[in-house]
Amino acid sequence: MVTTLSVRHTGGEYPVYIERGSHRSLMKFVTRHCGDRVPIIIADETVARLIPQDLSGIPRLTFPPGEASKTRLQWERVTDAMLDHGIGRDGAVIAFGGGVTGDLAGFVASTYHRGLPVLQVPTSLLAMIDASIGGKTAVDTPAGKNLVGTFHQPVAVVIDPMVLESLPAKEFRTGLSEAIKHALIADAELFAWLGTHASDILSPDPAHLEELVRRCVAVKAAVVEEDEREAGRRAVLNAGHTVAHAIEAQSEYAISHGEAVAIGLVLECRIAERMGLCETGTATRVAVLLEQFQLPVTIPPALTADALLARMKLDKKNRGGVIRCALVAGIGTMVGAGGGGWTQEVDLSLMRELLSLPR
Ligand SMILES: NC(=O)c1ccc[n+]([C@@H]2O[C@H](COP(=O)([O-])OP(=O)(O)OC[C@H]3O[C@@H](n4cnc5c(N)ncnc54)[C@H](O)[C@@H]3O)[C@@H](O)[C@H]2O)c1
Ligand SMILES: [Zn+2]
Repeated sequence: MVTTLSVRHTGGEYPVYIERGSHRSLMKFVTRHCGDRVPIIIADETVARLIPQDLSGIPRLTFPPGEASKTRLQWERVTDAMLDHGIGRDGAVIAFGGGVTGDLAGFVASTYHRGLPVLQVPTSLLAMIDASIGGKTAVDTPAGKNLVGTFHQPVAVVIDPMVLESLPAKEFRTGLSEAIKHALIADAELFAWLGTHASDILSPDPAHLEELVRRCVAVKAAVVEEDEREAGRRAVLNAGHTVAHAIEAQSEYAISHGEAVAIGLVLECRIAERMGLCETGTATRVAVLLEQFQLPVTIPPALTADALLARMKLDKKNRGGVIRCALVAGIGTMVGAGGGGWTQEVDLSLMRELLSLPR
């Protein structure tokens, strides 16, 4: 099935094409959305091997894969290389890869010659359902993740779920964790569908993968359309993440982002239950679904409540030692949807108690 979703923003709108096999004719999309511009591909060295034959005539700039490349140094290298290639104001950037590439290439596009169009071609599940939609670009600095960046909406997003075939299982799981988060924050039907089709998605069956991507893109698109500049509702995308960031950092990244998000979603649902914001049993339902996808739901014993709490207080999003979370009001709905703020302050003693639960 071919799906085209449209994402509106203040400057207009852009299409998100979701179609199995679309990368075989990627040039068609480049021509449609970049016109006569001079295109250049930015990709990491792993994903560069997947660039379809169709784009063989377009020069490519590569960088080592991984978060460690999302830096000002790589921005400098890539922009210098673009200058060497003679890319001018009539250039266009094709960001081909995972979320690291999307963020780095998007940042390059938004700053080079005061802004070039960027075509996002996400290849990881996380990039397809999250990073490529919404126009956020960034690089990391030693002081933290995503601290230097821009909003720069793509001209289009082209998704071919078939490229997920080569995605390592660990990366696939990270994407699944965010997919479950999307369902939890905004789409109860998607939550139920995930439960029914977990084995089809894990097999993975191409038709189910495509549907997963389509439904998750719809959630992300709806959230960013409502809050393009992250002034309000977009905070719901951080569900589970207050706890997740502490777990990731405290484990020295031995626990991946996706695993940490899975654990964080369950724990933050327990917080919402205890604060009387959602029905008792919500956290268990979330845990059952995550386990169907072979994702972890409890904090490993080595990570103590005190250490995690200290991490949370250090987090720049939690100013003045106050911990805030985006909490659920139920499966598919967040507390802020009923009016009031999109994040809630969590009592430190409650957080400590739940972080100390037997593991
Ligand atoms: N801009 C946003 O709104 C937004 C939202 C969420 C996350 N992000 C960012 O996204 C980044 C994480 O993205 P990610 O998980 O895609 O990381 P990534 O780009 O590093 O990709 C993960 C790994 O998978 C490989 N890979 C990607 N696609 C592949 C494929 N089809 N086949 C084989 N290997 C493939 C990559 O080479 C890399 O090694 C983080 O930096 C995060 O901050 C941005
Ligand atoms: Zn995340």
